Amino acid sequence: MAHVLVTRRLPGPAVDRLTAAGHTVDVWEDDVPPTPAVLRERAAGADGLLCLLTDRVDRALLDAAPRLRAVATFAVGVDNIDLAATAARGIPVGNTPDVLTDATADLTWALLLAAARRIVPAAGAAVDGSWRTWDPTGFLGADVHGATLGLIGHGRIGQAVARRARGFDMTVLHTRQTPLDELLAASDFVSLHVPLTPQTRHLVDADALRAMKPSAILVNTARGPIVDQAALRVALTEGWIAGAALDVTDPEPLPVDDPLLAAPNLLVVPHIGSATRTARERMAAMAVDNLLAGLAGEPMPFPV
Ligand code: GLV
Repeated sequence: MAHVLVTRRLPGPAVDRLTAAGHTVDVWEDDVPPTPAVLRERAAGADGLLCLLTDRVDRALLDAAPRLRAVATFAVGVDNIDLAATAARGIPVGNTPDVLTDATADLTWALLLAAARRIVPAAGAAVDGSWRTWDPTGFLGADVHGATLGLIGHGRIGQAVARRARGFDMTVLHTRQTPLDELLAASDFVSLHVPLTPQTRHLVDADALRAMKPSAILVNTARGPIVDQAALRVALTEGWIAGAALDVTDPEPLPVDDPLLAAPNLLVVPHIGSATRTARERMAAMAVDNLLAGLAGEPMPFPV
């Protein structure tokens, strides 16, 4: 039977199925990921790898793990995996699409609404003593209903975000039908739903931010490096846009002294798009299904 490395404790019972299938399972028990060097050491004898988006699966790791014959990632995004390198070695890779689509779309809306209605500073005022009276000019935010939402990317998650926008009577634009520059200029909210690739790295750069309305809010639940964060800091500080809400940053975590965190009208949460119990348990089940199939030499049910 096979030796499997699982790079973090996962929710639900799925990982037990690896042991039940007769495999030996080495689970990385720490709350923070192994360094690349430690990962290489731990993966040396592994036939299967169940990894997270925090693990780099690159040529160096594959060289260090000569027995590896299946990789299952506990994520839909695969930008941490060198797919050319896994393909060159004939190693199948599986991911976890669909089951996190709605959770991530919900979180996108949570961020959009929170940024538009200034929920975080308002909640702070309710507990820090600065709420003195009902204030006609206090915490004025932006209307969400009837506004224009521009989606950069219109795959599974982008479409789920668009479906929710109907309930807010919004006009929805997306980059499959509207050129990016037009979408940026017309949108009150711009939300990112593309994978991170060489083509999308810094897609939202200084020019893109300057093209947005000064009243617009940027939401990113995709991948941090899609936004040029240095440009975003300037955009928020100089008022090129009205706000940004990020579930993802570059790097993650963002060091607490990163200058971006000092920018005004910025809300950052720690990459929790798929963080519902149901979504995460389903992701674990899918990753295990992928790994079991890959180790058995069968096609993975959710191949990349
Ligand atoms: C989360 O970001 C994922 O790719 O699943």
